[in-house]
Amino acid sequence: MNVADTNRVDAYEKVTGAAIYGTDRVPPGLAYAMLAVARIGKGRLTRIDTSAAEAVPGVRLVVTQFSSDELRDAGFLLGGGFAFQSFQPLLDDHVAYRGQPIALVVADTLVAATEAAEAVEASYEAEPFAVHLDAETATTLVQEEAIPLPFLADVKVGDADAAFTASPVRIDETYEHPPQHQVPMELIGGVVEWRGDTLVVHEGTQNATALRGGLAQQLGIDKDNIEIISPYVGGGFGQKNSLQPHLAPLAIVARRLGRPVKLVIPRTQTFHGASFRPASRHHVRLGADGSGRLLAAVHEVDQQTSRHDLFPAMHTEITSRLYGVPAFRGRQRLVRTDVQTPGYMRAPFESPAAFAFESAVDQLAYATGQDPVALRLANDTATDPVTGLPFSTRYLAECLRRGADRFGWAARNPEPGSMRAEDGSTIGWGVAVGAYPGNVAPAVANLSAGSDGKVTVGVDGHEMGQGIRSAIALLVAQDLGIPVSDVVVRVGDTRVAPQHLTAGSWGTATALPAVHAGLVELRKHLDVADTGDVDVAAAVAANGRQAVEVGVTSLGPGQPPEMLEQSRAGHVAIGGPVYPTFSTFSWIAHFVEVRVEPTTRRIRVPRVVSVADCGRVASPVTAASQVRGGVVWGIGAALREESLVDDRFGGFLNATLEEYPVPVNADVHKIDVEFINEPDLQFNPIGVKGLGEVAMVGVAAAVANAVHHATGRRHRKLPIRLEHVI
Ligand code: MOS
Repeated sequence: MNVADTNRVDAYEKVTGAAIYGTDRVPPGLAYAMLAVARIGKGRLTRIDTSAAEAVPGVRLVVTQFSSDELRDAGFLLGGGFAFQSFQPLLDDHVAYRGQPIALVVADTLVAATEAAEAVEASYEAEPFAVHLDAETATTLVQEEAIPLPFLADVKVGDADAAFTASPVRIDETYEHPPQHQVPMELIGGVVEWRGDTLVVHEGTQNATALRGGLAQQLGIDKDNIEIISPYVGGGFGQKNSLQPHLAPLAIVARRLGRPVKLVIPRTQTFHGASFRPASRHHVRLGADGSGRLLAAVHEVDQQTSRHDLFPAMHTEITSRLYGVPAFRGRQRLVRTDVQTPGYMRAPFESPAAFAFESAVDQLAYATGQDPVALRLANDTATDPVTGLPFSTRYLAECLRRGADRFGWAARNPEPGSMRAEDGSTIGWGVAVGAYPGNVAPAVANLSAGSDGKVTVGVDGHEMGQGIRSAIALLVAQDLGIPVSDVVVRVGDTRVAPQHLTAGSWGTATALPAVHAGLVELRKHLDVADTGDVDVAAAVAANGRQAVEVGVTSLGPGQPPEMLEQSRAGHVAIGGPVYPTFSTFSWIAHFVEVRVEPTTRRIRVPRVVSVADCGRVASPVTAASQVRGGVVWGIGAALREESLVDDRFGGFLNATLEEYPVPVNADVHKIDVEFINEPDLQFNPIGVKGLGEVAMVGVAAAVANAVHHATGRRHRKLPIRLEHVI
């Protein structure tokens, strides 16, 4: 295999524009839709006037309300349904949150649709609302009581409160993490088209099967008459992980008009119309002996949810596993506020949780006079402290040691503010670790070997830019000894495989074992040896056929076969991170340098070293890219990103990329990535674990710890902006 073969296999298609994203399509006769949105924080529509909108030339339809017969509920993803929230707008006069759609306009052109949507006039009866965790009308629920599911129960190991009280050294701090939005480059939207009785949807999604199942339920049609096609997604990050409320209305108006309809939701509307990372507050208590050996940890979290859904918190799943703490108590509460339902945003819980917990661990290192790396190594564990099971693999200590080496950590003077750059900036060096659960979903793989020597693979998986297509192509090419260019990978398309949700960093560990099983089967059908290079064209010809096809299914360790049916129906069907005989997590260590300029107090991040344990690295180029992306996200979380809310207005205030700053090139410098690259063969026969999210976990803490080292000040509220270090 040559070097080029290890690159991103769809790079050429992407840079030449040959990769067609969901809403790039312009079918003949296309009409354009736009949404008009509510301009109050909560309440009721008392009047809606569409006459001006209807008078805009080119407008074909303005709909303010669908009947509950034609537009049924899709249900909340986490309640057996398909949608990111249970609430479906455009059914009645209820306004649940600012920015909620109140009318759908369809016109011959995008300009006309936009103008008409602006011309929709509404009057409201406003009601008091809550958008802050501390708002008067926000209501707080204990999660394990409100949602009695075992995997959402509070983690309790030993008597952590008593052990904390008895500990010689105690850290007791509260951390605040703001709401954030994913802002993927590709906007949310879809193109819907009826071909006879078949509904064809092109939409960038991480969950084609849920769109299919949800639309079938909402429209009352057979899911076999629905095709969801999402071969490329221009960034999902969790915001495109389920059915969104625009799609069924689009299908209805497309049928009414007898035309395909496209909607691209403008950036500002996605801040109110799509999921986001909820606000969270973390109370962390660490008890330790004088040497920094952890004796107890208590991690209590309040996390924002919506009024209409309980979006569960899972912050303590990783904080209870970072170290060998003998006593741990987690407690997670949900705070109902008047917003769209929050959801999963890259490392949804793990990043905020690690910011809090790893900031506290750094503080413990200072309180006990220990080096922050040495303290972490001294608290390492090979056993999952929550279950008592071994970790299938855990090379976290190796990540720390290699990272410290690469970074040059030994040269660090621990005294805050003691290290200076030539320009007078204070230098801060910080470290933090991260973990992410090793989940897995059932998958179906259909492989076809052609007489032209090409192998086509259709499998569960969505390509959001993370590189799943490369990982699959490389596996097939390496196994059969054929060029990557002879492998055709088809993902994100309900016509080729079910398309279970691709999220939670389970994509690679889900697709590759299925493809591997498919290769084993394909070799049998081709009558070739179990291993070694294959002349595919010759083997197919010897079979006397044009193509040799196989179909296989795969399940995670210990997963019951019913999970395949659950997946086929469009529901989440994941297993892990606790399996019958082991627990699986991915691990990472980040080392960060910050420089705080003496006069402007501007905080820069000139270099980061990240060492990850994601099992075997399936696709080196895209894997390294995933880690760099995760680090950039962590820098954003630490220093830039915050979705601002105001009690007077509701909704989110900074709903543009001008006002919601994410890191740009000038903010991102050297990011040095290394992998442990040890296969986890208990987890699956390929030895791959997840990577996309663990990449981000701990970065914000490492930045905050570096800022402390530079300035002597601890920041427990993100983002840290220059006004905070003056
Ligand atoms: Mo991800 S936040 O699980 O798509």
